[in-house]
Parts: sequence; structure tokens; C-alpha cells
Amino acid sequence: LKVAALIPAAGSGTRLGQGPKAFVQVGGRTLLERSVAALAGHVHEVLVALPAGMELPKGVQARAIVGGQTRQESVLRLLEASGADLVLIHDAARPFLSADTVRAVLAVLEQTGAATAAQPVADTLVRADPFQADGTLWDERVERAGLWAVQTPQAGRRDWLLSAHRRAETEGYSATDDAGLLHWAGHQVTLVPGEASLFKVTTPGDLLLAEALAAVWDA
Ligand code: C5P
Repeated sequence: LKVAALIPAAGSGTRLGQGPKAFVQVGGRTLLERSVAALAGHVHEVLVALPAGMELPKGVQARAIVGGQTRQESVLRLLEASGADLVLIHDAARPFLSADTVRAVLAVLEQTGAATAAQPVADTLVRADPFQADGTLWDERVERAGLWAVQTPQAGRRDWLLSAHRRAETEGYSATDDAGLLHWAGHQVTLVPGEASLFKVTTPGDLLLAEALAAVWDA
């Protein structure tokens, strides 16, 4: 079976404020370059969705296509551009992906057809009303046992993912991730323990963390 890595990297990086996020550097390498390098040795091909008008940074071994307006649209385009049987979808914005995690997700993918990296939630969770005028008010405590934070890589049979994405497009359903779409389409998704280092670089604070981690990661 042919396996491809699909990397959505077409985001604008609005919350980070440094231009298209995949092209931001930590420890002297772009987030995109780090994500591609983490996957290249494990799959038959790497496909990247880039913002319109951008090219792959020099030395990045991958095939590039133009992404869409949303992450979901970018992933649909990647799924359509790939000819692989199985795909591993990984956010460019999660540059610290270990070989152990890639292997673990791939192993479960081959057994079950749908898997994602995820971490058990460690913090106390509450639901709050986001629309309070004078500060957000604690509404209710949410039971933490059994809750996981979903990361990437997310992996699945490409035919399952394609039909879930196409159905979502037709029905106007949006999800923030692909495992969520597979679940919505009726597939069972297996959780594979991810790692804390797989956090998504989103805010300027995350970038500071990423810089610090890069020094250790690259040593
Ligand atoms: O915005 P966020 O950090 O949630 O994006 C997650 C991933 O999806 C990033 O790697 C980003 O580049 C990608 N993305 C995309 N196309 C978009 C929006 C986001 O490929 N239109």
C-alpha cells in the first residue's frame, strides 16, 4: 500500500503576526522544513499545500500544490492531488514530530484505517460563557477523565477521508480536523498517544517555546 504525508501549510498565520506561518523559522529552519523532514523517511511521497503565490523553501523535498481558504479546503485539495492508499495528515505548524510518533500512528493506521495522535488533558477544564460583557464567567466544571486534546499526525484511508471531506463540502459541515470529519462520517478513529512537543505554534508565546525546544531537539 502506498502511503503519503499531506501537509497543510497554507495558513496566513494571523495570530502569530509574522506572515505565512509555515515559513516562520525556529532554530534557523522553517516550521515547514521541520515538518517535512520529520515525515519524509516514513512515506512514499510528501505533498504540501502552500498559500497562493508562495514556493517551497529551498531544499524541501516535496510536491507542492496551492491550498484553499480554510484548512479543511487545503486538506481536500491535498487528498485529491494524492494517489496514495493511506495518508498521514500533519500540520506544518507542529514542527516537533518524533519518528516514534510517526511509526506509532502508521502502525495503528494499518490495523484500523483511521488514527490520530492525541494527548490526555492535564489541566482542569471548565465551560465559560464567552460573551459576558464584564469578564468571562465560569459556568460549569467539565469532567476531565476521558478527555483528550487531538493533535496531528492524523491518518486514514484516503478513500474514507475523501468521501468524508466531499460530503462535508456538500453539506456545509466544517470541522477543525480530519479525524473529526472521519468520526462525523461514521468511522471509528483510534487515539495514539502523542507528545507534548507536538503543540501547534499559534501565538507569539508558542514561538518562544518553539525556539527553546529547537535548541534541545537539534542537539
Ligand atoms: O490556523 P491553524 O494553526 O489552525 O492551521 C493549522 C494548519 O493548517 C497550519 O499548518 C496551516 O498552515 C494550515 N492551513 C492551511 N490552509 C488554510 C488554513 C490553515 O493549510 N487555509
